[in-house]
Amino acid sequence: MAPAIAWRVVALCLVCATAVRRGLGMRTVNAIYGDTIIIPCSLDVPKSLLFGKWKYELADGTRQFVATKAVAKPNVQYDDVPEYKDRLLMAENYTLYIMNATINDQKKFVCMLVFEDDVLEAPAVVKVFKQPIKPEIVNQANFIETGKLNMLGECIAKDSYPESNLTWYKNGKLLKEVNETVIIDFQRDKDQESGLYTTKSSLQYMPTKDDLNAEFTCMVVYEMPKQKESSFSEPAVFDVYYPTEKVTIQILSPTKSIKEGDNITLKCIGNGNPPPQEFLFYTPEQQEGIKSSNTYTLTDVKRNATGDYKCSLTDQNMLASTTVTVHYLDLSLIPSGEVIKQVGEALPVSCTASSSRDVPVIWTKNKNKLSFSPSFASLKIQDAGNYVCETVLTEVEGLKKRKTLTLIVEGKPQLKLTKKSNPDGKSKTITCTVEGYPIPIVQWTSIGIGGIANQTEESPYFDGKIVSKINIAPEENVTLTCIAENKLDRTIASVNVSAINIPEQDEQEDKNDENKEKVNDQAKLIVGIVVGLLLAALVAGIAYWLYMKKSKSASKHVGKELGNTEENKKLEENNHKSEA
Ligand SMILES: *[C@@H]1O[C@H](CO)[C@@H](O)[C@H](O)[C@H]1NC(C)=O
Ligand SMILES: *[C@@H]1O[C@H](CO)[C@@H](O)[C@H](O)[C@H]1NC(C)=O
Ligand SMILES: *[C@@H]1O[C@H](CO)[C@@H](O)[C@H](O)[C@H]1NC(C)=O
Ligand SMILES: *[C@@H]1O[C@H](CO)[C@@H](O)[C@H](O)[C@H]1NC(C)=O
Ligand SMILES: *[C@@H]1O[C@H](CO)[C@@H](O)[C@H](O)[C@H]1NC(C)=O
Ligand SMILES: *[C@@H]1O[C@H](CO)[C@@H](O)[C@H](O)[C@H]1NC(C)=O
Ligand SMILES: *[C@@H]1O[C@H](CO)[C@@H](O)[C@H](O)[C@H]1NC(C)=O
Ligand SMILES: *[C@@H]1O[C@H](CO)[C@@H](O)[C@H](O)[C@H]1NC(C)=O
Ligand SMILES: *[C@@H]1O[C@H](CO)[C@@H](O)[C@H](O)[C@H]1NC(C)=O
Repeated sequence: MAPAIAWRVVALCLVCATAVRRGLGMRTVNAIYGDTIIIPCSLDVPKSLLFGKWKYELADGTRQFVATKAVAKPNVQYDDVPEYKDRLLMAENYTLYIMNATINDQKKFVCMLVFEDDVLEAPAVVKVFKQPIKPEIVNQANFIETGKLNMLGECIAKDSYPESNLTWYKNGKLLKEVNETVIIDFQRDKDQESGLYTTKSSLQYMPTKDDLNAEFTCMVVYEMPKQKESSFSEPAVFDVYYPTEKVTIQILSPTKSIKEGDNITLKCIGNGNPPPQEFLFYTPEQQEGIKSSNTYTLTDVKRNATGDYKCSLTDQNMLASTTVTVHYLDLSLIPSGEVIKQVGEALPVSCTASSSRDVPVIWTKNKNKLSFSPSFASLKIQDAGNYVCETVLTEVEGLKKRKTLTLIVEGKPQLKLTKKSNPDGKSKTITCTVEGYPIPIVQWTSIGIGGIANQTEESPYFDGKIVSKINIAPEENVTLTCIAENKLDRTIASVNVSAINIPEQDEQEDKNDENKEKVNDQAKLIVGIVVGLLLAALVAGIAYWLYMKKSKSASKHVGKELGNTEENKKLEENNHKSEA
């Protein structure tokens, strides 16, 4: 735009050529460094022209012709100016081209049109611009420390023309100079040969912790023909060093709770940057302070390691403290192991747990949970068993203790014989229940019939007992003998069994006999019928008695008979037999 306007001004002023000569309305020709400068003559070329010329004028008054072209001749005559050797070109229309623009080309160039009687001059001022090389932050600090001025680095923008300016930015915000906190030193050098400027700006800066990861950039602002332009350096980021203000201590342990035998590692952390690597550790018994790295390990800790642990920075008095609890669990069972006692003896038992927490003690006997703590005033055979006393510290993984008492109760064999008529009415079952330990050997003998006529059936030893049964259907009265023997004693019991055709009252079976055969439903039914028949017989008996009393009134004799239960029973049994 500007040259076009200048062109018109010059065109208007052709009328007043003197004014042009005085340099009014001077044109400016802008060029980029290294490019070709194009300076049009900007004068109308009249027919009477003899020749056109170009010259330059310096401020000190120096004039130098550089090129001439006579209208009559086809060639341009270039003057011998070393500076412009091979760099000039004058076109047919007298436009001057200057190749490879330099700063030194900034001169006033004048186009002269020479006539027979006059000379017209059109001056133009050449201005050259050079964009600086992209700025660079050099001599960057490896780290910067809070609380003091740090030289962050120096920004350099090389080879600009004209002078350029540098400014610093932090995270995109302009950094202004602040007393004692932000100090910017600016420096500009000119290269004498090329005439180009190199601009430098150093930044001294007092950082805060927040400047960690802050991006520092520098911007160069330079002039170009149309406007000012700018370009940024690559950002620079600095590690900000700051002192530790707080120390914290941590317990590193593979599990949440610590138990005896564990290794404990204490870790101390300072919040400074870089994090401190050396600390003093204080244990409950070592108040001196043990110099260590940021960790301190205690191996195979015992309960006496419970207490407060502290750490501090070696050169400062910042203390951090933590409490370590070493959990433990002891269990004592008295007596324990294998204990042999005799029936009737007393055996006090105690199981006590001692722990860093309240813990329950759980008892089991032969793997069944007990709701009480066993202790014996008078031992029974049934008290024998495998007792386990157990305790668990639930807060601490893997802390569990158990102790075992294997109680053996020895007792002489104790016999109990029962007999029972079987529902079929043809055989009898004789049961010999033997209690004792070591497990007795049970045998049967009989008197009356030779040996044991029928097989015996023996239950396994259970609950301190052996139940041996024999089924017999004797033709005549026999005496059966059950013999039980262990290392302590030999015990015998006998029972008289009458012949099968002589019914007997069944003896009550041992209620505690766990091995008692379940009476099947059919047997129950038969018992029911028998009871019903007995009742009917009784009613019939009473009716008969009443009838006899009325007819004979021999009350005394009958009363005697009724009072004798043995006789009465026989009567009933006979009734039963006759029915069956
Ligand atoms: C101008 O510069 C170019 C490279 O930029 C170079 O090749 C050429 O020789 C230069 N011309 C003159 C006349 O200096
Ligand atoms: C002068 O001539 C050159 C070509 O030789 C042309 O590019 C340029 O525009 C002309 N200038 C003027 C002012 O006429
Ligand atoms: C900066 O320091 C100068 C002297 O060094 C002092 O006169 C001026 O008041 C200070 N300005 C601020 C804002 O602290
Ligand atoms: C550089 O700064 C100076 C003074 O602040 C100013 O006069 C000049 O125009 C600036 N130059 C550029 C290229 O911004
Ligand atoms: C404790 O550390 C020692 C060696 O330092 C190692 O032998 C042992 O297995 C560790 N104990 C535990 C429970 O990790
Ligand atoms: C802690 O107890 C263990 C044995 O259980 C012993 O060797 C060690 O010396 C004790 N430590 C302290 C500090 O009392
Ligand atoms: C034992 O007696 C039962 C009936 O009381 C009979 O069925 C069985 O065959 C007898 N066994 C022997 C070996 O005599
Ligand atoms: C068995 O009967 C005989 C006589 O027959 C008698 O002496 C003995 O005491 C009886 N035994 C039992 C255990 O009832
Ligand atoms: C068999 O025993 C019964 C009583 O249980 C008795 O009345 C009977 O006389 C006895 N018989 C013989 C042959 O001993």
